Amino acid sequence: GAPVEVNISKVEPGQLIRVEWRGKPVWVVRRTEEILKNLATLDDQLRDPASAEEQQPAYAQNAVRSINPEYFIAVGLCTHLGCSPTYLPDTFGEQVEGVPSGFFCPCHGSKFDMAGRVFQGVPAPLNLVVPPHQYIDDGNVIIG
Ligand code: FES
Repeated sequence: GAPVEVNISKVEPGQLIRVEWRGKPVWVVRRTEEILKNLATLDDQLRDPASAEEQQPAYAQNAVRSINPEYFIAVGLCTHLGCSPTYLPDTFGEQVEGVPSGFFCPCHGSKFDMAGRVFQGVPAPLNLVVPPHQYIDDGNVIIG
């Protein structure tokens, strides 16, 4: 499949947009400062906080799992059996499905944070996949 160019300049804080790459859904989420701060507090609830167990781009092996921390880019498929998780936007401290904000898989209840890192105690074995990508400039990214 060919690389896909995505214009991200109009994505609002907290918004998720979907594009397709190699027949798969890819998400681009614009994260707020609040969300990024929260990511630093979750390590002890996560299975693999630094994505050490996974074949991922080097820029995905840290707490924010992205090149530009403001934008999280991931394949939108659960690493358990491939359902598409539901985006739970920042709920300002309220928890939805036990997650402050992140992604919830309706098929068997796996939970991921706003960097796609899987929580402990759910069926999904791995963090969401970060596809290879690169920025052309501040507003445009190439996936693939
Ligand atoms: Fe997501 Fe099973 S496919 S939890």
